[in-house]
Formats: sequence, structure tokens, C-alpha cells
Amino acid sequence: MSKINDLNLNNWKEYQDIITDSLWIIGERDKSGAHRGDYHGNFVPQIPNQLMRRFTKKGDVVLDTFLGSGTTLIECKRLGRNGIGIELLPEVAEIAKQRVNQESLFDTKVFTEVLVADSTKNETRQKVDEILKSYGRQSVQFIIMHPPYHDIIKFSNRPDDLSNAKSVKDFLKLFGDVVSNFLDLLERKHYLAVVIGDKYTNSEWVMADITTNYQWVIVINTQIPNGFH
Ligand SMILES: C[S@@+](CC[C@H](N)C(=O)[O-])C[C@H]1O[C@@H](n2cnc3c(N)ncnc32)[C@H](O)[C@@H]1O
Repeated sequence: MSKINDLNLNNWKEYQDIITDSLWIIGERDKSGAHRGDYHGNFVPQIPNQLMRRFTKKGDVVLDTFLGSGTTLIECKRLGRNGIGIELLPEVAEIAKQRVNQESLFDTKVFTEVLVADSTKNETRQKVDEILKSYGRQSVQFIIMHPPYHDIIKFSNRPDDLSNAKSVKDFLKLFGDVVSNFLDLLERKHYLAVVIGDKYTNSEWVMADITTNYQWVIVINTQIPNGFH
């Protein structure tokens, strides 16, 4: 068995439900259970599912710093992973809480926590530390970041919302603040996945692969036609 997942990598070809190509062709969105797909800007549940199967084991703790409607935590419950999700907007966090509670295919031993907070702020990190401590944990084994794709979708009018960053440079600064805020929570030799898409502004292509300098970062680009890379 691998050290970071529950897969037997000697038999990797036998896992029919795990996509092993670098281009992920995902068919219809999973709308089962509590998944709805109605939150503008949510990712298809198959993305966190595929990531967690590869990069976590049952009982690990997953942190999602841009929780949105709760897709990651619903998948955590299904896969027997513990999850902490941070969402800036209280009304969106409320939807996430309701959906996560609705999801019935859960393993009773996992915890899922929704925090209404700004992921760039140090006090948010302190709250995450407190949650982990209350469950006897000190670190997380996987981090998923699915930030706004800069200003493609405006999630609110709030200045602390990354979708309101005034420029790509400002967006990258705020995104970097989130990475710095949580990176040392990640257990050694574990991974952080960034799910983001390219964008076009004034006929210019702004590439999403913003973090490829780091070995521990997996970048999933959602703007590739018919697939995720
Ligand atoms: C692309 S969406 C995530 C969607 C999520 N993966 C889902 O499936 O529903 C990005 C989310 O980040 C939130 N957000 C923006 N700025 C934030 C910040 N500073 N701290 C925490 N969340 C933030 C937005 O409100 C939005 O819900």
C-alpha cells in the first residue's frame, strides 16, 4: 500500500474508477445525494473525489480554503475523510452546512466543520488550529484550493473576496497569503491541489498555472475543453 492513499500502486490499472490519464475526461456531473451543482462556480464533485482517492487515506484530514457550496466536504463524508472548509460568505457557508448535513452516505467516524472566515487572515488559521486540536489533530494531510478565477465570477462586493482583487497581481498576492497561511499545517510529503482555470482579458490569455514551481502542488486546470488537466 502507498503511504499517502489506500491504493495498491502495483495494481493501479485495476482501479476502474480512478482516472490515470493526465487529461481527465469527466462525463456527467455527479448530482447524487446532497450534490446540486447550482452554485455558480462550483466544481464537479468528481474533481475532489479523484484528488482525495489519490492523495489521502481514510481518516485523514482535508482542508478546503474556498469551500463554496460544500462539494469537498460532501465527498469527504462519502470517502471517510475528515474535512474542514472555510468560506467567506455566511449565506454560502449556510448552504454548505445544510448540504453536508443532508449527505447521508457517511461514515460516522469522520468530522466535517464549516468555518465562516477569510482564508487570508491569521485569525482564521488560529481557528483551524483550534478545530484540529479539539479532534486531537495537529496537521492536515491534504489541502484543496478552488479559489475564484480572479474576476471571472464575482461572488460578492466584499473587498476581502478574492474575486474583487483589482488586478491579477493583487489576486496573486491574496492567493499567496492563503497558501502561506496554511502551508505549514500540511503534513510532510503530502499535497496541496489548486483547482483553477485560465482567463481571457482584453484579448490576452492569463494562464492559470500559477504555482508550478512547487513539487507538492498539483494544478488542475478546469478550462481545457472537454476535460480537466
Ligand atoms: C470557486 S468558488 C469554490 C466553489 C466550491 N469548490 C464548490 O464546489 O462549491 C470560490 C469560493 O471562494 C470564496 N471566497 C472568496 N474569497 C475568499 C476568502 N478571502 N476566504 C474564504 N473564501 C473566499 C467565494 O465566496 C466562493 O464561494
